[in-house]
Amino acid sequence: MVDNLSDISFQRVIYSAGSYTNERIHHLSQADSDKMLAINLQAFEQVFRWASEQMKRQSQLLDMDKNSRLSIICIASIAGTMEYPYASLYAKSKRAMIATASAYRAALAPYHIQVNCIASGYIDTQALRDLNDGDASHKPFVISTQTAVKHVMQAIDKNIELAVFPRSTRYITRALNHLPKPVLNWILRSRLDKTT
Ligand SMILES: NC(=O)c1ccc[n+]([C@@H]2O[C@H](COP(=O)([O-])OP(=O)(O)OC[C@H]3O[C@@H](n4cnc5c(N)ncnc54)[C@H](OP(=O)(O)O)[C@@H]3O)[C@@H](O)[C@H]2O)c1
Repeated sequence: MVDNLSDISFQRVIYSAGSYTNERIHHLSQADSDKMLAINLQAFEQVFRWASEQMKRQSQLLDMDKNSRLSIICIASIAGTMEYPYASLYAKSKRAMIATASAYRAALAPYHIQVNCIASGYIDTQALRDLNDGDASHKPFVISTQTAVKHVMQAIDKNIELAVFPRSTRYITRALNHLPKPVLNWILRSRLDKTT
């Protein structure tokens, strides 16, 4: 896909593809494991590598004004903002995405290419509804897609390195991250529905 796109110039690339399996309930199968790693991590890194090379060339060719700032964005998850031993592959791959985006942000700053990472809580998308028998309204602090778009566009406009929303979920994860590690591990382990 990226080879086919090599002749097209982009001002903004957003990596939004994602794959999720509920590991709190199901043990991870080989197929789900391969798919999550491929989509959440490997293809993400490939696309970021391609986009950064493409934009570096473009930034050298063009005299970019402030309104035509080049940007690369990825959609991670609030699940990737916490570190604990029983984190799922989804959470671990989104955590790696957050760290990778931060490294790209530092590397591309000299080229004036902005990199932003989005770490959202639950968004009421079709995919989330499908995972919850058609209704995701019981999910804690779930937000509409319109609200999510507003947050994402704000994060890009304000060039926020890691945008964590909604506010309620941001405060909860921040508080959890301040707990002593053994307490955090105990709380999160007790939330697992399967044996470890
Ligand atoms: N919904 C939430 O509560 C939530 C919360 C935090 C983060 N996120 C993240 O937000 C992003 C979008 O999630 P969503 O809820 O809108 O779920 P979704 O509909 O399942 O979005 C996944 C997207 O990834 C694309 N995709 C999956 N596998 C692909 C592949 N092999 N090649 C190319 N594209 C592929 C899908 O494309 P097709 O439609 O063509 O299959 C789809 O557009 C994901 O990265 C997800 O992890 C979602």
